Amino acid sequence: MQSLQFSPIVAGTMTWGIWGKNLTTQQMTQLITDCVANQITSFDHADIYGDYTTETAFGKAFKESNINRNDVQFISKCGIQLPNVNRHTTVKHYQYSKTYIIESVTNSLKNLHTDYLDVLLLHRPSPLMQAEEIAAAIDILISQGKIKAVGVSNFSNTQTALLHSEIDIKVNQLEFSLTHNEAMLNGSLDYMQTNQILPMSWSPLGSVFKLDNEQTQRIKAVASSLAAAYNTTVDGILLAWILKHPAGIIPVCGTTEIARLKTAIAVTSIKMDLQDWFKLWEASAGHEVA
Ligand SMILES: NC(=O)c1ccc[n+]([C@@H]2O[C@H](COP(=O)([O-])OP(=O)(O)OC[C@H]3O[C@@H](n4cnc5c(N)ncnc54)[C@H](OP(=O)(O)O)[C@@H]3O)[C@@H](O)[C@H]2O)c1
Repeated sequence: MQSLQFSPIVAGTMTWGIWGKNLTTQQMTQLITDCVANQITSFDHADIYGDYTTETAFGKAFKESNINRNDVQFISKCGIQLPNVNRHTTVKHYQYSKTYIIESVTNSLKNLHTDYLDVLLLHRPSPLMQAEEIAAAIDILISQGKIKAVGVSNFSNTQTALLHSEIDIKVNQLEFSLTHNEAMLNGSLDYMQTNQILPMSWSPLGSVFKLDNEQTQRIKAVASSLAAAYNTTVDGILLAWILKHPAGIIPVCGTTEIARLKTAIAVTSIKMDLQDWFKLWEASAGHEVA
């Protein structure tokens, strides 16, 4: 398996299409071009985004950008099946059969106009998943050059270990932010460091801009007081907090605003002061550390 290289900030495409901003092809092409011009070369997808439409919308826009495929990295996921008349699915469920995984990747490649994914992530753990069967699909996809590497998403340590016995798991993409920081307390990030698994954090801004409550007000107050000193914004401070963790977490940023993506990339050169990091954690927890 080849070594994995991602940009220090990954652009998440979940809300680029009909699940959010509903960008036109031209707007998407511009956003992809702006990302790449600002050193954001890795793009996070999933088969299900936009009810199975966003990969296709992105693929069309990427083709129009004329950017060389070798200059970008595509992450996509499979395993969640949404209820969908065309797919004959009547209940949301997880599907990890060998045939399904291969079919899903083949579709993603077609949608994205590419020959390979840089990494395929298994989107959510299923109680029914079988490591040997998944490994058989992965072996075929890797030997055919359709995926360069495989990872998981939202997997616990034991679920990752179950697959790791059969498959070289390279990434775990999980929810991690100042407001959702369980992964640094429940052993997940330690496990990833011990096993050379690259952590990516989805929703890296957590609930800070989504909810207005005592926790987010405390965080905003502290982050605002620090922003000027670090020459950044509140969202920049939230990302810098994640980037200080020694596991080398890559934030998957969901904004479609290029100014915010520029802030994110600028923040990768910030070295947050130790006590500032703890001030932010204290603001999140609502009390000092023990
Ligand atoms: N593996 C998984 O299970 C999983 C689950 C969920 C998501 N993901 C991935 O993670 C990516 C990011 O997820 P996310 O969108 O929840 O993450 P996020 O980056 O934490 O949040 C982005 C949202 O925050 C808003 N925002 C950013 N800065 C702001 C500010 N200063 N003030 C107010 N609002 C601000 C953005 O709005 P604007 O667009 O207007 O800037 C956008 O709606 C997704 O695109 C997807 O690729 C993966």
